[in-house]
Amino acid sequence: MEDLKKSNAIASCDIRETDKRFVAHTYNRFSPVIVKGSGSLAYDAEGNEYIDMGSGIGVNAFGYSDPEWAAAVANQASLLQHTSNLYYTEPCAKLAKLLCERTGMSKVFFGNSGAEANECAFKIARKYASDKYGSSRNVIVTLKNSFHGRTLSSLAATGQDHYHELFTPLTPGFDYIDANTAESLDELKKKLAGGNVCALMIECIQGEGGVLPIDKDWALKAQELVHANDALLIVDEVQTGNGRTGKLYAYMNFGLEPDVVTTAKGLGGGLPIGAALIAEKAAGVLGFGDHGSTFGGNPVCCAGALSIMSRIDNELLGEVRRKGELLRSMLLGRPGVKSVSGMGLMVGIETERPAGEVVKDCLNAGLLCLTAKNRVRLLPALNIPDELLVKAAEIIVSYAARPQSAQ
Ligand SMILES: Cc1ncc(COP(=O)(O)O)c(C=O)c1O
Repeated sequence: MEDLKKSNAIASCDIRETDKRFVAHTYNRFSPVIVKGSGSLAYDAEGNEYIDMGSGIGVNAFGYSDPEWAAAVANQASLLQHTSNLYYTEPCAKLAKLLCERTGMSKVFFGNSGAEANECAFKIARKYASDKYGSSRNVIVTLKNSFHGRTLSSLAATGQDHYHELFTPLTPGFDYIDANTAESLDELKKKLAGGNVCALMIECIQGEGGVLPIDKDWALKAQELVHANDALLIVDEVQTGNGRTGKLYAYMNFGLEPDVVTTAKGLGGGLPIGAALIAEKAAGVLGFGDHGSTFGGNPVCCAGALSIMSRIDNELLGEVRRKGELLRSMLLGRPGVKSVSGMGLMVGIETERPAGEVVKDCLNAGLLCLTAKNRVRLLPALNIPDELLVKAAEIIVSYAARPQSAQ
């Protein structure tokens, strides 16, 4: 047994070295080499078990190797793994229908990631405006502290300067306002009156920005201003969507009526898929040849997504809300926990100790968590068992406070 552990440790070292040598250094990886998972438990090459409170950054909606999802994916892969978008396929059509039926949207464009879903939304907003008002109406307003992706346009949409610095010139035509202040509503009003704004794009809860929910009144007033000017409201639900907040999409918690909703992450349950859901008003904007993607609507990804989306029903959403409350009740008021933000199973914990240190200690104790700015961020699988949530909360709390001597 000891020999086996030793040889696995050597194999892990080898993988880390090979990765460091050949994979571009864009990720500052933690040490474990994850080899398999089951439900909300992950295992590394050395046999260590981890409770996963990150689900691959909100992707593995039903955890690792969910049997229904895996069967849907395997079955589709054995029938038809891909064909071009020159032809119809059943999973793509069925998934688009399900998404429209569940949201009241009229059309769906499929891509492969969140950033691509956002790119599609930008194109819709600009074409909607240029068809009606001419091409000078092309500015997309987004919120400061937002995150919308890594492509040059979604970076431009991201309202955080430090992401921009090394990559200028970015796509022009993006402008930024603060969220949640009376002044920023005035600013939005002025920008709209200028006549060149085609859309406002928001996250209902800024994920990478620190798990910060938008103020409902502010969002409703902003929507009113946008719609009064025939601009589009785009809601980026890449992280908040697909059941994460206890509603199918987070905008449903806020009474918003977006014209375009973008989503990805949890939609595919672990395979790459992104989608722009388009309301009736903008449904006819993109025509033949205006947009496309080789892999968009891939049958295997869509079959996986269908398995996920068809199970995110009212009962499951109720469970997400209940589990979220359970988690909050385990965290709030505990020593070292300064505040808890988020909704459902999208949770940000402001800890006394720096979030990065808490996450490292949790990893060593067998718990995978994320950070978002100064918070420990949790995005567990939607079906995580209560006992794992309770265990996870206890581990986080045990590392949240500064040691007495340091205070
Ligand atoms: C709100 C939001 N939008 C867009 C993206 C980009 O998604 P992707 O990495 O799939 O391109 C992310 C990723 O974290 C996100 O959280």
